[in-house]
Amino acid sequence: MTEITATRSKTGLPTLTAQALSKTYGSGQNARQVLGDISFDVYDHETVCIVGPSGAGKTTLLRCLAGLMPSTSGSVYIGTEKVVGPPRRMAVVFQDYSRSLMPWMTVEANVELPLRGRPGLTAADRRHRAQTALASVGLENSAKLHPWQLSGGMQQRVAIARALAYEPDVLLMDEPFASVDAQTRSDLEDLTHTIKAKYGVTILLVTHDISESVYLADRVIVLSGTPTSVTEIVPIDLPSPRDQITTKSTPEFAELRGRILGLVRRHQPATTSTAEPANGSLMKGPDLG
Ligand SMILES: Nc1ncnc2c1ncn2[C@@H]1O[C@H](COP(=O)(O)OP(=O)(O)OP(=O)(O)O)[C@@H](O)[C@H]1O
Ligand SMILES: [Mg+2]
Repeated sequence: MTEITATRSKTGLPTLTAQALSKTYGSGQNARQVLGDISFDVYDHETVCIVGPSGAGKTTLLRCLAGLMPSTSGSVYIGTEKVVGPPRRMAVVFQDYSRSLMPWMTVEANVELPLRGRPGLTAADRRHRAQTALASVGLENSAKLHPWQLSGGMQQRVAIARALAYEPDVLLMDEPFASVDAQTRSDLEDLTHTIKAKYGVTILLVTHDISESVYLADRVIVLSGTPTSVTEIVPIDLPSPRDQITTKSTPEFAELRGRILGLVRRHQPATTSTAEPANGSLMKGPDLG
């Protein structure tokens, strides 16, 4: 398999642009500004991870980027196209697979669901895309099962396959591996690398886990402050392909992980507790988000 490395698109234009985004929930006395002035670009075939304290507004940001919620000000672009609703070139994977899959439908039908009604696709095309996507996440033999017959990690693979079957240019993922055990999480991280290499999709992934962000990303966007803004964008210049054991045991990996943890902690609100003693994961604060 050929590894696709992050490159600027031929036009030099970013694939995804967040331009001076802000978001305020509520109005009047109840108004609460969550996102400050957020700008960044994501280029073709990049994997960019977003980290920040719990309650910082990461999900809010992803929803604005995905056109699922309007921002209060600022704009989002896919290429030169302004995002005003869910764009056809984008797919989203959420943390909670149990709520995003339809329990009464087979795995295959779940994967085909977003393709229904898509112009130009026959039933055979939909089936072919679903089978290909399921094979790429290792679930070719589970197509006729229902989600409740699968483990949590397998269900999240179905959710990923559903996004891939859509053949998006940009894949947004909101803490996609937060609800599975550590071993499955490592497997799904590696699957993310494989998918990127195979599909060449551009990935923007939110995670609480700083080690995961360093392992997966070409760049890590660190969010902090209230309202939230971009503290720093850290390039991850670790070589590819990456490997759970080799990559994570290098001094460069430890240095990047420590640097990002320091950035998040330095700008953290006093009320949010974080801990990253063993696994590089930011614990959720008791009162936020
Ligand atoms: N629909 C909403 N209406 C009002 N406030 C909201 C809404 N959604 C989120 N918020 C508030 O915005 C803030 C940011 O929430 P958000 O879920 O975006 O944070 P997050 O960084 O994703 O948190 P977590 O790390 O826990 O997933 C929180 O204080 C939350 O209570
Ligand atoms: Mg969130």
